[in-house]
Amino acid sequence: MNRRKFVLNTALTSIGGLLGINYLKGNNSLEAHLKSSVNGGIMLDNPTIISTWRFGIAANDAAYEVLSKGGNALDAVEAGVKVPEADLNNTSVGRAGYPDRDGKVTLDACIMDKDGNAGSVAFIQHIAHPISVARAVMEKTPHVMLVGDGALQFALENGFKKEELLTENAKKAWEEWKKKNNYTPPIGPNNHDTIGMLAIDKEGNISGACTTSGLAFKMHGRVGDSPIIGAGMYADNNVGGAAATGLGEAVIKVAGSFLVVEAMRNGRTPQEACEMAVHRIVEKQKNYKDIQVGFIALNKHGERGAYSIVKGFQYAFHQKGENKVYDSDYHLKE
Ligand code: GLY
Repeated sequence: MNRRKFVLNTALTSIGGLLGINYLKGNNSLEAHLKSSVNGGIMLDNPTIISTWRFGIAANDAAYEVLSKGGNALDAVEAGVKVPEADLNNTSVGRAGYPDRDGKVTLDACIMDKDGNAGSVAFIQHIAHPISVARAVMEKTPHVMLVGDGALQFALENGFKKEELLTENAKKAWEEWKKKNNYTPPIGPNNHDTIGMLAIDKEGNISGACTTSGLAFKMHGRVGDSPIIGAGMYADNNVGGAAATGLGEAVIKVAGSFLVVEAMRNGRTPQEACEMAVHRIVEKQKNYKDIQVGFIALNKHGERGAYSIVKGFQYAFHQKGENKVYDSDYHLKE
């Protein structure tokens, strides 16, 4: 055996040894091994989707439509979160989102693919599907994040349509709020309903997306956690992914979704990882009783977790052909 062949053979044998398998000796294919085992950390042939809140059900259906035809997780999460972005009854995501305190609808979104590529837009106006602009930032620019007018300019240059997003309903709610609130942005457990989504496709690859109109009646220029990679959402194809909903300021301060994914990397289950991240927020934020934050997580075995500060956080989970809403466990039991 020449030196090159010897080095290659030794490397393959070591990898085979590490994985505890004999596919390298020709008895099994790598694919067959991964299908029959989760030792490789990869779940094949079982598309799985998790997303935040009850409205995640319709989003999961759209994502599954992509996955069931053999589509990839990136296409699935984009298609999935576009459903609440387009929903005129959804006042916290996309085109019908409540405006900021100046009456402007400003949207935030981010996306990550299986290779760790990431794209994001923040404080973008007049574009109904910020998630698709975030994807275009990821795929067509050398950058990760575009904001405000620059993000809008990029969107228009790439064929997105400029629209007035403030609906009559949202305008009415804003006018009512102005009368009562004297321009103080509201902070409370019920004012944030971001959609975050994670999906695993037939190849066992994970991607994630997150999109929101943010805190209703926020200060003009305010950006929350949702477009910030590692805060509102994070996905790592070696481990799994996480997404956050709730008061973005609290999530940003602990790099919430990254925290959850790193906890899974270090051996925690998705449920334990979500609980740890909520407890971290509770330890650090004195006013935690006045806020809501919830996390969802999905590891590469297709196992899920969800946890929130306050009772009431729900999520939608689609696996083995079944798409259901679940109540998450929560911290504030009193
Ligand atoms: N989590 C959404 C936001 O705070 O904007």
